[in-house]
Amino acid sequence: MKLENKNILITGGTLGIGKETARLLVSKGANVLITGRSEKRIQESLEYTNAKGLVFDISDIEKIPANAQKCIDLLNGNVDVLINNAGTGVRKSIEELSIEDFLTVYNTNVFGLALLTKEIVPLMKEKKQGDILNIGSTASLKGYKTGSIYSSSKFALRSLSQCWQAELRPYNIRVTQVNPSEVTTAFANPERKERAEVYNKLTPKEIAHSIVSALEMDDRGFIPEFSVWASNPFN
Ligand SMILES: NC(=O)c1ccc[n+]([C@@H]2O[C@H](COP(=O)([O-])OP(=O)(O)OC[C@H]3O[C@@H](n4cnc5c(N)ncnc54)[C@H](OP(=O)(O)O)[C@@H]3O)[C@@H](O)[C@H]2O)c1
Repeated sequence: MKLENKNILITGGTLGIGKETARLLVSKGANVLITGRSEKRIQESLEYTNAKGLVFDISDIEKIPANAQKCIDLLNGNVDVLINNAGTGVRKSIEELSIEDFLTVYNTNVFGLALLTKEIVPLMKEKKQGDILNIGSTASLKGYKTGSIYSSSKFALRSLSQCWQAELRPYNIRVTQVNPSEVTTAFANPERKERAEVYNKLTPKEIAHSIVSALEMDDRGFIPEFSVWASNPFN
């Protein structure tokens, strides 16, 4: 797909992977809208990305239809690409599990994501074209100690990706699950401070590059799922 003039919605584009992806897509001529919970972080990101922005907390489930409509309006009634990137996580042992933590993470990573996608899909079905990229994680593929809440939410997302592939492929809608390994970002940091680059860990740039590459593939093909690892994390 040629990205020039495509309308692209990225949830959670204020920091990290979403912000870097927005910048790269804008540099390719796309019309990009980012979302996030903080007006201040959105404004800071807009200076870096040259995208458009909307305050939209995706975990606020009741407001999703109204906020989705605002996104559609800001993208001139047309969403070619939806990048479901907004995400959060906690690390808790089984003894520490609480419904509050489950709901915080699932409302963002699973419920909000799915209900926003539900609002966007009819536009894509009508045009018989669209791209949905779900940002999962290597935690979508394998559980680990303290991963009960985050990893299970990302397993759920992988299942959504597979269900949507089955439902939406007949409409020429490409659904891709992206599974990054550790990326040095502000992820799950309540203070929202971005981490410095670490020479043997991934940065948001590699993930942005892989997302854009998948989108740029000719429309006759698509990548259902891919993972991105650091090449040499132990040296
Ligand atoms: N970093 C990693 O190691 C890693 C590895 C694999 C997968 N991932 C996944 O990659 C995605 C992006 O993470 P990241 O590393 O770039 O983390 P990040 O730097 O913390 O960025 C997360 C983005 O999501 C937004 N966000 C969080 N909760 C939101 C909500 N309820 N409503 C709207 N926006 C919300 C944040 O915006 P505000 O805070 O401004 O609201 C921010 O723009 C996530 O889905 C994460 O699970 C990350």
